[in-house]
Amino acid sequence: MLKGKDILNTAQFSLQELNLIINTAANFEKRVKSGEVIRNMEGQVVASLFFEPSTRTRLSFETAINRLGARVITMANAASSSVSKGETLADTIRTIDGYVDVIIMRHPMKGSAKIAADNATHPVINGGDGAGQHPTQALLDLYTIRKEKEVLDGHTITFLGDLKNGRTVHSLGYFMALCKNKMIFVSPKSLKMPVEITAELRSLGAEIEETEDVEKALSVSDIVYVTRVQRERFENPEDYEKVKGVYIINREMINRAKKGITILHPLPRVDEISTDVDDYEGAAYFRQAHNGLYVRMALLTLITGRA
Ligand code: NCD
Repeated sequence: MLKGKDILNTAQFSLQELNLIINTAANFEKRVKSGEVIRNMEGQVVASLFFEPSTRTRLSFETAINRLGARVITMANAASSSVSKGETLADTIRTIDGYVDVIIMRHPMKGSAKIAADNATHPVINGGDGAGQHPTQALLDLYTIRKEKEVLDGHTITFLGDLKNGRTVHSLGYFMALCKNKMIFVSPKSLKMPVEITAELRSLGAEIEETEDVEKALSVSDIVYVTRVQRERFENPEDYEKVKGVYIINREMINRAKKGITILHPLPRVDEISTDVDDYEGAAYFRQAHNGLYVRMALLTLITGRA
């Protein structure tokens, strides 16, 4: 179903494909945890190109590659590549495409993943394109929701923080609409979800409420998805200073929130969840980061026909 496909945005997926990815990930989770030596991708080489900082996305992809018996070539610093000599993205990709079986790329420019895919014969996975999309994060978010909540539908989920620049919420919003969840968007006025995304989600039938009142949103939410204010996307540092730290979730707020609320965050966190929340049983953000490994193993094997 996914063999040979690029992974560029969440709108490309059908529910059937989501179920396949989740079930494949669950199977890899079992196999890894049993201590099995997995060789599904033996003989393959994957390029991991990160033109923007990353901890979880790059290292969980590279761990997935290693755990599948494939090999990885990495470019974690654009300054060390010919990009710094002025090479275009198209030429860089066309070259690397001749070396490997899959290309994973993170790049600061929105739309860059599509350019890469247009210049590659092998599948391209978007590891984040500027303030655009981050589909593999949304897939691991979905896998986490299934594990934490058992079902994917019928929840009320609050998206909190920088909804304008946060690519993870742009991606996850689509899955939440597809799975018939109600969404509440909570952000300062200057960081609201882009109107074109809200309109698209509503056109899919999603019920969406927008507010600045975090406590009220938490009192009716089954899940809260907290995001970092994306400092690197601000043109003017003063604008960042005005909104940083606007919403900070602490233990007292969680005590007043809907019982059993699950807290997700793509990480890294700066200060938007205080550490006194970490031992709350519904604080799932580190489990969420661990789930990324299995979801990325599933994706890699599905697109290369090795699942
Ligand atoms: C996110 C990203 O890069 O968009 N991080 C991640 O991949 N887990 C979120 C962020 O940087 O705030």
